[in-house]
Order: sequence, then C-alpha cells, then structure tokens
Amino acid sequence: MFIVEGTAENGIAVNISKLIGSRLVKIDYKIFSDGESYIRVPEDGEGEAVVVQSTHYPQEKHLMELVFIADALRGIGIERITAVIPYLSYLRQNDRFGKGDALSASSVLKIIKNAGIGRIVVVEPHKLDVLSYFEGDVAVVDVSEMIAAKIKGEFMPEIILSPDEGGIERARKMSEIFECKYTYLEKTRNRDSGAISIKGVGNYDFSGKKVMIVDDMISSGSTIIEAAKFASEGGANIVVAYATHLLLADNAYKKIKEAGVSEIYGTNTIPSRDCNVIDISAEIAARL
Ligand code: R5P
Repeated sequence: MFIVEGTAENGIAVNISKLIGSRLVKIDYKIFSDGESYIRVPEDGEGEAVVVQSTHYPQEKHLMELVFIADALRGIGIERITAVIPYLSYLRQNDRFGKGDALSASSVLKIIKNAGIGRIVVVEPHKLDVLSYFEGDVAVVDVSEMIAAKIKGEFMPEIILSPDEGGIERARKMSEIFECKYTYLEKTRNRDSGAISIKGVGNYDFSGKKVMIVDDMISSGSTIIEAAKFASEGGANIVVAYATHLLLADNAYKKIKEAGVSEIYGTNTIPSRDCNVIDISAEIAARL
C-alpha cells in the first residue's frame, strides 16, 4: 500500500504516511494553458492505495482531480482505492429543498464511487446520513474531543455555544472535555438571500463568561457573527470560535474578528493562514 499526495491535501498526506509507515507517492501534476489538469501517478502497482484530497474551493477542480488520480491508479493496476477526503464539499446540498433543486451531495458521492473509489474517509461531514448516498465503505473521523483537549491548554471556555440545533452533539462532547456547560441557538436561514436569524433557547447565562462557539464549518461567517453578537449582547466577556472546516469565503475571517471574536480555531482540512489551526492527521491515520 502507498499514500498518494493529492493536489489539495494541505500536508496531511505526508503526515499520514509517516504516522502509519506507508510510502508517500507524489504525482506528476500540471495545469495546461487552457486550464485543464494533467495527472500522472509515476508508479507500478497492485493491491491498495490511499489518496488524500480535500475538495474545498475550487470544489469542482479538486473533485475532478480526485477522479483523475483514481483513474490513474486503476490504470497502473491498483485494485482497491481509499480516498481520504478531509473536507468533502457539497454535503450541505443534501436535499431537494425547493422544487427543481439538484441533489448535489448525491451526485458528488456517485461521481466518487464511479471513479473506482471503494472507501472514503471523511472528517466531520455536515450531516452523517448524507454519506449513505455513497455506495461503498465510509469512515467518519470525529475530531471534536481531540480538538477540545488541545484548546484546553490555552483557553478554557465557561460555556460552549452551538449556533444551531444540528451542532448540539459537538457542543456536548466538547463541553465534557472542558467540563463546562453547553447550550444552542435556533437558526433559520433565508434560502434566497442567505440571511440568518437566530434565537436563544434553553438555559444559559453569558454574563461575564468566556464563550466558545463551535460549528462544523465557517463559510460566509454569518452564522458565527450572529452567534457572537448574541453572546456579546448577553454580556459575554470573551468570545472565541471553533469550526472544523475553515472555508472562510467572502472575507469571513476579517468580518468575524470585527464582530468581536477574539480567536478562531480550526483544523487543517482546508488551508488557512490566519486562524489557530490544529492538525488532525493522527485522527485520520487511526482510521486507515
Ligand atoms: C450549517 O448548518 C452549518 O452547520 C454552518 O453553520 C454553516 O454552513 C456556516 O455557514 P456560514 O459561515 O456561511 O454562516
């Protein structure tokens, strides 16, 4: 078995290859002048290979390059391909929310399976059940407790806040490590404008407290900003944020900081220069 360093893997492939003692294979890769990708895996092979490839922006490019790497692996005789996809895009489009909507999550997972990939290893997908669209083996890597244990060394929140109901389990697990309370907000998003509205539910008292907002991803930043405003208006002393996947589109980092969030923690599933990033390679390696 060997580990293939994809075109968007943020150093995770080399970390994994060291951790599990597997050989690292670098691909020949270039972009033609018209924008098309060229991929070659300079190996002979049989048996199994693991390719590491995230599918953040530009999502389609990274996804197609994963397909090409899988094709190259099959071309040299590899029989079993596992794709480690630290961030798997399109999983939020997990339903036909409106008439005529594409079920993009299902399409993406079918493309990956049809590329000859039999197993995927994904870090904290937006929702677990969406992965049932993949007709192969699935391993989900949950990093929340490890992340909380790492952050604990430098910041101890007094309340963990999930900005929506879907994130309650993450908030609960992290609160156990921090030995603090957790609560959540009810969030609704206008599907046309993207605008978010939130309201508090449950038992909480933010006054004078250190609050940590935790979510699966930060995209535009609106969710974290609204949750941070809510905590600050409730009297929070310090507000920090953690999200597993730091997409940080539309200048989100700057906007979140301007909203009074003092630190943004995240992981290396996606490259991020500004945030406090924690390496999750060991948690992935444990699933290989
Ligand atoms: C939504 O349900 C997710 O858990 C995140 O809260 C959301 O995708 C974050 O997006 P944004 O940063 O654009 O508000």
